[in-house]
Amino acid sequence: MGASSSTPLRECWPSIPANRIWKLYSESINSPQKFWGKQAREHLSWYRDFGIVHSGSFANEDNAWFLGGKLNASFNCVDRHAFEDPDKVALIYEADEAGSGRTLTYGDLLREVCKLSHVLKGMGVQKGDIVAVYMPMIPEAVIALLACSRIGAVHSVIFAGFSADSVRDRVFDAKCKVVLTVDESKRGGKTIGIKTVIDKAIAQCPTVSNVLVFKRTGAEVPWVSGRDRWWHEELRKWPGYIPPEEMDSEDPLFLLYTSGSTGKPKGVVHSTGGYLVGAASTGKYVFDIHDGDRFFCGGDVGWITGHTYVVYAPLLLGISTVIFEGTPVHPTPSRYWDIIEKHQVTQFYVAPTALRLLKRYGSEHVTGARSHLRVLGSVGEPIAPDVWKWYFETVGKTEAHIVDTYWQTETGCHAITPLAGITPMKPGSASLPFFGIDPVILDPVSGAEVDGNNIEGVLAFKQPWPSMARTVWGAHERYMDTYLKPFDGYYYTGDGASRDDDGFFWIRGRMDDIINVSGHRLSTAEIEAALIEHPTVSEAAVVATPDEITGQSSTAFLTLKDGSEVFETLHAELVLQVRNTIGPFAAPKGIYVVPDLPKTRSGKIMRRILRKIMAGEVDQLGDISTLSDPSAVGKIIEAVKAAA
Ligand code: WT7
Repeated sequence: MGASSSTPLRECWPSIPANRIWKLYSESINSPQKFWGKQAREHLSWYRDFGIVHSGSFANEDNAWFLGGKLNASFNCVDRHAFEDPDKVALIYEADEAGSGRTLTYGDLLREVCKLSHVLKGMGVQKGDIVAVYMPMIPEAVIALLACSRIGAVHSVIFAGFSADSVRDRVFDAKCKVVLTVDESKRGGKTIGIKTVIDKAIAQCPTVSNVLVFKRTGAEVPWVSGRDRWWHEELRKWPGYIPPEEMDSEDPLFLLYTSGSTGKPKGVVHSTGGYLVGAASTGKYVFDIHDGDRFFCGGDVGWITGHTYVVYAPLLLGISTVIFEGTPVHPTPSRYWDIIEKHQVTQFYVAPTALRLLKRYGSEHVTGARSHLRVLGSVGEPIAPDVWKWYFETVGKTEAHIVDTYWQTETGCHAITPLAGITPMKPGSASLPFFGIDPVILDPVSGAEVDGNNIEGVLAFKQPWPSMARTVWGAHERYMDTYLKPFDGYYYTGDGASRDDDGFFWIRGRMDDIINVSGHRLSTAEIEAALIEHPTVSEAAVVATPDEITGQSSTAFLTLKDGSEVFETLHAELVLQVRNTIGPFAAPKGIYVVPDLPKTRSGKIMRRILRKIMAGEVDQLGDISTLSDPSAVGKIIEAVKAAA
């Protein structure tokens, strides 16, 4: 063990507090037991102290943290703050309709969480059961997560933009008995029929016995009597307190489905103790959260960003968290800044895709004094230096620290990231590892560690950390195959990265067939599978293309079945096919119908060639003479040119 020998991290942190940070970092790598034991006791309340901080290894598949420790997530997020100061604001809800919303104190939150816990128990939910949550960004979504964890149930949030088919797959895979949802949702002034999607999805899920529906808009919605219940009617039947369940540190806290490069989405499993320690410690050190702060993460609770930084980190640290239901441009492109001004937000956290959009609208929309903002976070995709500069100068007035946080659903919390107020900033670099993360750059072919600086390869982590995912729900082999087997002895991130002269890390993007649209992870295989469902499509190949606003977008190349013809509405039908199978956000931006796809003689589709064509690098296609039909390439180039 030891910090990667070649990375002079000590020199990266030049100032005096930085030396202390270097000491802490070294301790986190060389004596993880000591370091994480302290963190776990400082940030969390345990019913029973843990005896062993960490045991197990990547290779033995038995990584476990805070063994023997007993705790409850909801108690840590709610009760202890409510007992200290029930009137402290926990949730600041900003509804889609500008100017409306409400706040919930820690006292309110405790009562709501307890009432919902009673309802869930009444519906037969037991410790270890998985509860599906298909809800927009409203306080009840947070209440839902906390109520599940209070009674020891495992939440599985499904992003409210996923289609009925996607919801069905996730509910089915986890055998959920109960689904929490709303009648309709509101976003950017539009109304979305959430309950209708749920009905369609669970018509094929025999395990679901109850659906609890929060009334968001009050619209008439279809109802299955016996199965469906109204949230407000059920909650009023129960008292505002129920004791939390004592959970083992390694009991699962939640599942979150995420796309892999092959197969159906994976239900990534996070543990209770380890995950919470990661959330609290990154909240404290990366965002410099202090008592009294008002934290605004623009991410949705349907993704890991929302789990860790809308819900768990701020609430564990007992501060106020903003729940924003709308979009950054509704009703005007000043919406974020209005919220920041109104609530005197201290930390703001968002994906570069939103920043690119707002930058394009123009700096005159960046209103308000923004005088309380200390930290500005970026997440989900690389932030280009010009966008970074705009964030730093225009939004932060050069006074707020920018933290470009690199992490993944599987890491649970930040992995490579600056620490606010400490790590020197470099636009475009996620900078240095967080405590406990021992990053290495591997040669993608040999798997050997690439030493020294000014090098590149694939990014892997050398030792376990508390908040790492423990398994994939019901598919542990997939977990091993995806993360721990590709490079023996390492956790493989799937990302390419480089380390510059100063030892700073630069994330270069996915090495696999995962594409990142507006910070949403999608697999090209999933989109291809959706397209092939259309009756006329024979074969499909989807590749990522750079996009000015969404970072990447997907482009599909299709061949049609014999005898099928291109008809006028085909394009629209194909888009609809993907919207209905995955969700609106997954729709391909470009669709090309071509006579043949570039394939090797063994039939493997050469997506690399399609990527080059889309990048306009037709002179760099390499040797295409080995393709089964080299002339296919010329026809594709023509099709792309004709559409331009
Ligand atoms: C993938 C993980 C982590 C929360 C949101 C996405 C990419 C994430 C950065 C960053 C460059 C980034 C990586 C990673 N990514 N953060 N700061 N710079 N790339 O979570 O859906 O699990 O996706 O997002 O490619 O592997 P996710």
